[in-house]
Amino acid sequence: MDLDPILSPVKKHLALFDEKLKENLTSDSALISQVARHLVNRRGKRLRPAMVFLSYGLCADSKNHAQPTPALMNVALAVEFIHTATLLHDDVIDQSKVRRGQVSVNHKWNNLVSVLMGDFLLAKSLRLLVETESPTLLSTISKATVNLSIGEMSEVQESHNWDIDEDTYFKIISDKTASLFTASCEAGAVASGADRAAQESLREYGQNLGMAFQITDDLLDWVGETEKTGKGLGTDLKEGKITLPLIHTLRESDPRTKKKLTRLLENDFNQRDFDQILSFMQGNGGVEYAQERASTFGRKAEDCISSFKDSRYKKSLQSLIGFVINRDK
Ligand code: FPP
Ligand code: MG
Repeated sequence: MDLDPILSPVKKHLALFDEKLKENLTSDSALISQVARHLVNRRGKRLRPAMVFLSYGLCADSKNHAQPTPALMNVALAVEFIHTATLLHDDVIDQSKVRRGQVSVNHKWNNLVSVLMGDFLLAKSLRLLVETESPTLLSTISKATVNLSIGEMSEVQESHNWDIDEDTYFKIISDKTASLFTASCEAGAVASGADRAAQESLREYGQNLGMAFQITDDLLDWVGETEKTGKGLGTDLKEGKITLPLIHTLRESDPRTKKKLTRLLENDFNQRDFDQILSFMQGNGGVEYAQERASTFGRKAEDCISSFKDSRYKKSLQSLIGFVINRDK
């Protein structure tokens, strides 16, 4: 599924965003500039800034003013910087070697550089948000940043817990991923001057979209293609991260099979073990279950924006749901 047509209503915003992103990455430090060049070399999907712009457009269009404010651009840059900072830190935690189809910063340089570049981006995002002079925007985004730190910490705490239940998993992904989706959509609505009800609808949309996104992300770690995702396969399990398809599989297994699977998980984990677990998971519906749960969150997201008047922004926000669930990268 192609993302470009979905982003077309905010194409100009995103082009300006790309320019501003580069401007904001310049610094006196030669090392920061080098790492920044590496990062912009393979940009991400820009989903979070797109959500800021689309949510803004959806609300502003209903009020017949579509001109974006400078504060809006700052918020879009801030959420992208925060997202990139989390990935730089996450790749250190996960000891990842690839990110976005190229060597990760921790692998190309080292952990120290990756953490410090993440700190630089986090600090930059703070400045950008302060410049908006909007305590509401600052509060919305900073709350999400706290939550995603909590989510990552809970994930570390729950790693290797083969008995993790679905609610705990949902809470973790809500914090570590959906929180920034939620804040991006809410911030777009806030920047447009939309009323509380519209802000709340977009918050809920972002929350459900974020859940669908992370469930799909976790599924791709099992059934994706490395060339497309730009990340390794089976990395979650190697780190002891139990995600939804496996939670379902373990829950639905008889005690003997569960014991066998747990033994595979506990031992030093290799490719053969991964294939064996995957084949078992495919046999007992773990993949379909996770797909179904992602679709349910997708349907909830769609309901959240149904009362907005029809517009190209609304159409894009609707199509984004399908993209997030059906993506292969
Ligand atoms: C990627 O998940 C990681 C996150 C969505 C959150 C990471 C959060 C932190 C490292 C803590 C807070 C950091 C800052 C800078 C405030 P994943 O590992 O499932 O995705 P992946 O497969 O792309 O690695
Ligand atoms: Mg990771």
